[in-house]
Amino acid sequence: MNLITDLDVKGKRVFLRVDFNVPLDENGGIRDDTRIRASLPTIRYLLDHGARLVVASHMGRPKGKADPKMSLKPAAKRLAELIPNKVIMAPDVIGDEVARLKHGLGEGEALLLENVRFYKEEEKNDPEFARKLAEDIDIFVNDAFGSSHRAHASVVGIAGFVPAKAAGYLMKKEVDYLKKAVHAPEKPYVAILGGAKVSDKIEIIESLLGKADHILIGGAMAYTFLKAQGLGVGKSLVEDDQGQIALVILEKSRTKSGSFHLPLDHVLAKSAEAGAVTRTVESLPFPEDMMGVDIGPKTVAAYAAVIAGAKTIFWNGPMGIFEIEEFAQGTIGIAKAVAESDAVSVVGGGDSVAAVKKAGVMDRISHISTGGGASLEYIAYETLPGITALEN
Ligand code: 3PG
Repeated sequence: MNLITDLDVKGKRVFLRVDFNVPLDENGGIRDDTRIRASLPTIRYLLDHGARLVVASHMGRPKGKADPKMSLKPAAKRLAELIPNKVIMAPDVIGDEVARLKHGLGEGEALLLENVRFYKEEEKNDPEFARKLAEDIDIFVNDAFGSSHRAHASVVGIAGFVPAKAAGYLMKKEVDYLKKAVHAPEKPYVAILGGAKVSDKIEIIESLLGKADHILIGGAMAYTFLKAQGLGVGKSLVEDDQGQIALVILEKSRTKSGSFHLPLDHVLAKSAEAGAVTRTVESLPFPEDMMGVDIGPKTVAAYAAVIAGAKTIFWNGPMGIFEIEEFAQGTIGIAKAVAESDAVSVVGGGDSVAAVKKAGVMDRISHISTGGGASLEYIAYETLPGITALEN
């Protein structure tokens, strides 16, 4: 895979795919610009070396229709605040006006295209749409690690229509760290998986069984595993249709070398609301009118002991409903344990990253990934469609 520094970009029209899918507030302001800042080294390098930069991203899931609420205009504004170069916001993704703006770009100037997902052809990886994106482009650069698990036109298709292609600095940094957790991770290798759904994590759990020394499970998906074994979990969030798969995973975990851990105690509440009265239990069934909202202190201590001995850690997904103060202790406890360990630690996924921020330990994590789904899929499949497209 080429890196941007391997190519001569001076005077070239470079199509740069970034992941500017940033959270917005109700007024359309950017709540967290981490993803924009994460691509600045690549953007700066290209502009400083005289590229004529065409930047593309998606924002949200507009399902193939233009929706002003998912415009990239706020991202263009923020980018213009962060770099001294001229940043032009395009009114569209393709078409005559965009072609005119692309042609008018001077060296060291950037044009940010509108949300590529305003066209349904983007998610279909439509070859004609990809060809239009590639019109007059000399080099395709992918710095959108967080979107590279999507085989979409601006991530994958376009690579087949350009004379040259390369990865940006963010893409390289993400892959370098995640590789450590995939290829020959230093042992013990501990994977911490949380979040609501087992269905989102089946492939990764299966790939980690036998690779990781410990898999620590938290979040609502733990209740699906418990209920599948016939244990009563009250009103807890459960994916009933995943019960069989949960049992298969539990069975496989018995025959593989690593240990699969489910929580030892649980924080319960009658409703998932701030101010709710909580109760911690070790035994099941849960009372019928209560739901699990966090892992309990005994689980935090047991998981922390495993984490303390780790040499490589991968964490994706919170341990409970950590956005609510009363249910946040489990996730915060795990964030602190990861921060205190000497292991190479990689944290991915918006919620886990927010939890690490909330615990105030951001600077003690080796690598915070900008990709949630992308980091999970990289760990499971050891590559991503967007990476393969750069290699072929
Ligand atoms: C993300 O937020 O994880 C990426 O931007 C990908 O977004 P998507 O899940 O809508 O494809």
